[in-house]
Amino acid sequence: MGSRTYCLTTFGCQMNDADSEMIDGILSALGWRKIDSENDADLVLFNTCVVRQGAEDRAIARLERLKPIKRRHPRRIIGVCGCLAQQDGRRLLDRLPWVDLVLGTRALPRLAPLLHEHEASGRPQVCVDLEGDPYDLPYEPKRGPGLVGRVNIIFGCNKNCSYCVVPKTRGRELSRPWKVILNEIRSLVESGRPEVLLIGQNVNSYRDGEVDLAGLLAKADAIEGVERIRAITSHPRDAGEGQFRAIADLPHVCESLHLPVQSGSTRVLRRMFRGYSRERYLQKIDLLRKLVPHITLTTDIMVGFPGETEEDFQETLSLAREVRFDSAFMFIYSPRQGTAAAQWPNDVPLEVKKERLARLIDLQESISRQRNRDLEGRRFEVLVERPAKRPPGAMAGRTRGDKTVVFPGSADLAGRLIEVEIISSNGHTLFGRPSA
Ligand code: 5AD
Ligand code: SF4
Repeated sequence: MGSRTYCLTTFGCQMNDADSEMIDGILSALGWRKIDSENDADLVLFNTCVVRQGAEDRAIARLERLKPIKRRHPRRIIGVCGCLAQQDGRRLLDRLPWVDLVLGTRALPRLAPLLHEHEASGRPQVCVDLEGDPYDLPYEPKRGPGLVGRVNIIFGCNKNCSYCVVPKTRGRELSRPWKVILNEIRSLVESGRPEVLLIGQNVNSYRDGEVDLAGLLAKADAIEGVERIRAITSHPRDAGEGQFRAIADLPHVCESLHLPVQSGSTRVLRRMFRGYSRERYLQKIDLLRKLVPHITLTTDIMVGFPGETEEDFQETLSLAREVRFDSAFMFIYSPRQGTAAAQWPNDVPLEVKKERLARLIDLQESISRQRNRDLEGRRFEVLVERPAKRPPGAMAGRTRGDKTVVFPGSADLAGRLIEVEIISSNGHTLFGRPSA
């Protein structure tokens, strides 16, 4: 008899990607073999996201599809991890009675014991405790291909944004010990990943004793073999000179920052409980650009928050024009159960929300195109990653500013640092040729 098989599908953010690598590590250590087909796997797992209603609907729809499979093969095990599992807990079993395992966002250490328990008893198993370090495990994450090593530095979120489900689904903040993080970085670099991505909902509230994010970046910067370091995502309230100087001064810390603004209207920001005003955000960007003039700056923006007027929305447009983000993720506000804003009238009509989103996307796309056009004629250090999807014979890599560059080159360049001169661009990609 061959080893038993599992299929794991991941939705959502980098935290889920990292958790899925840990799940792969646990299951492979237990002798499970990963396959792609959820129709054939003995264990089907979904690592889910509920940040907006659309994400939740997608997860539920995929789980609905498993109902007939479970009916035909009652011994198949169906598990839900991640934010939907955390949000719904045992209630998920009422919604989807064919589910066998509900494993919250901090429950990875319970995966192996609960699988065992389920197999022994045949009964559904649920763990949604939000205590403890979910990565305190005798297993190593199993990482996918690529040059980037992801390292979780902080779990959870202590902010209280009125629209956001994450504090509920990921619990209170817990910073991992810096020594553990540095060891993980060392082993990633030794295994051939020169770029390190430090991840967390709120990386700039990291703190372990005396070590804050800037301190952690300095320690990581000194590790032999580390070429590039980034940390994502930062909260504007905690962003300031210490973090900006680390980006400016540390040679391996890259010049890119994701700093979600959410809205350009102070009135809306106040109701979002963001803890900064439009002016305060702009001041921080000024300081950042003084210290790191060529920083790549990206953001998240929401439209249609309760009470958002056309005038508020105009302030979002004007902030986007003023800051000129390199790119932005843009969303329609989606009420989430258990959040403060879900109690307030969702009073911007859907048509207006859609129209505002379209106007914002239009504006941002033209800014993104212009920002990239400004880079034409310049030369950048590119870490070569992989063959480009097109044109044939081209390779793709990224600059220190996290811009994707496509250029003619052969596959043996992968993993190398080369200099590329930019000759053309669109809003998403730079095109260039290696400089002599
Ligand atoms: N509705 C719409 N967008 C949301 N985001 C978070 N919560 C919501 C919500 N309820 C967006 C924010 C955040 C990004 C990850 O998702 O812009 O920065
Ligand atoms: Fe989705 Fe947020 Fe959970 Fe990430 S933390 S999976 S974005 S709900």
